[in-house]
Amino acid sequence: MQFTVTTARPDQHKTELAIVAVYEKNELGRAAKALDKKSGLISSALANGDISGKRGQTLLLTETGGLPCKRILLVGCGKREEFDRGAYRRVLQAAFSTLRKKSYADVTTYLDLENVKGADVFRRARIAAEIWHNNGYRFTQLKSKQPKSPALPKKLVVAARDAKSASAARKGVHEGDALGQGMGLMRDLANLPGNVCTPGYLAKEARALARASKNMSCKVLSEADMKKLGMGSLLSVTAGSTEPAHLIVLEYKGAAASSKPTVLVGKGITFDTGGISLKPGLAMDEMKYDMSGAASVLGTFKAIAELQPRQNLVGIIPTCENMPGGSATKPGDIVTSMSGQTIEVLNTDAEGRLILCDALTYAQKFYKPAALIDIATLTGACVIALGSHHCGLMSNSDKLADRLLAAGKAADDRAWQLPLGEDYEKQLSSNFADMANIGGREAGTITAGCFLGKFTKDSDWAHLDIAGTAWRAGKEKGSTGRPVPLLLEFVLHG
Ligand code: BES
Ligand code: MN
Ligand code: ZN
Repeated sequence: MQFTVTTARPDQHKTELAIVAVYEKNELGRAAKALDKKSGLISSALANGDISGKRGQTLLLTETGGLPCKRILLVGCGKREEFDRGAYRRVLQAAFSTLRKKSYADVTTYLDLENVKGADVFRRARIAAEIWHNNGYRFTQLKSKQPKSPALPKKLVVAARDAKSASAARKGVHEGDALGQGMGLMRDLANLPGNVCTPGYLAKEARALARASKNMSCKVLSEADMKKLGMGSLLSVTAGSTEPAHLIVLEYKGAAASSKPTVLVGKGITFDTGGISLKPGLAMDEMKYDMSGAASVLGTFKAIAELQPRQNLVGIIPTCENMPGGSATKPGDIVTSMSGQTIEVLNTDAEGRLILCDALTYAQKFYKPAALIDIATLTGACVIALGSHHCGLMSNSDKLADRLLAAGKAADDRAWQLPLGEDYEKQLSSNFADMANIGGREAGTITAGCFLGKFTKDSDWAHLDIAGTAWRAGKEKGSTGRPVPLLLEFVLHG
């Protein structure tokens, strides 16, 4: 994939396909106007009623009357005054989706020349590269025959008005390219089934990523290492599985050692059967996505490796399976976490918090996080509360929460804050241990957050529940790559 920026005039730039904007009421975008002036082709398409400018419409012109572009793709952008970031994204989606019918050597998008409410040149270019990647994404590695439809063109040229815009656009496509690659890695890992993407597979991926990247290192703790550290909670989850559990630690050093790192902790349950508290069969296959938090951390590190920012970042991934079995943890069992706090496991299906709590304790013992953020497909209740649009955000620091909310907005990968606090925390009380691992039916997302809060007292900490946003179910089943956009935005600009 190659992204470049040009300041050449539309009527002088050679390309296989030029994408230009047409608004409602026969208004032409900047490049459309320039091309029409030389050829009259776009006015006649409008006059003939072949396109009206309604948002998402497309029309391919294959006759370009001597212009240097071989084809013109007209894209309806809707009402000009309503052309905001959401509309811009949808229009790019619609335009790029038409490009699979034939393989083009290169494509130039002039949509970036339009004014987009809430998106400067940098942002527009970044979005174009991001959507280019995500639109081209296909998960075909496990099909015995590869589909024949042509791949997206290898080269996207983004048009800029002048040298100053071009420099902002170059930064934008660079970041969007890195983001797209990171989301692609997350989507691949999450889409892989549980019999391929095991804890060992994630460890191998993390090692490979570190090996291929500047300033990045990786170490992987074994079950024996974890036992020595006293991670009784994490180990209780893997007890029923024959696959070995791992704690993956990635370090990216882009700043002085004295500069405190952002620490990302991702839930890596490569399959969640529920354990002895077995889940019902319906859609259980989707529990292969229960390592999406882990995959989002690896995706973010992939993007960071590409961009090499001047800061320090740590990624911690507790990973195992949650399986029933003769040696599995039973409801009522009491385990001791690395923090020393004891936990009554009333439901073995509330396992995410059990692996995360030890990983969070580890993070605070060995690093001094500037911010500690965990990412997890933690509760079905979050899907009920927020659906698939916002992820859930809980934090012990309103300042950190605000920064994450802002990052989510800027990246179009939104989070919504839910409260924490003593009233909810009480639901976790246990007659036999320091706490139970479930807090009853009410406010299930929040009590899960409260549970993690008991292990993060030493840091500014936030928890992202991505149960509703990390993958799509149904006919379009597949990983979304979220929340890599939010995380990368936070790390780079938050
Ligand atoms: N991985 C699930 C959460 C989940 C369920 C995410 C469905 C997306 C869709 C998690 O480990 C789990 O099973 N949570 C339980 C917690 C309950 C036992 C307190 C849940 O949400 O039912
Ligand atoms: Mn579970
Ligand atoms: Zn789970």
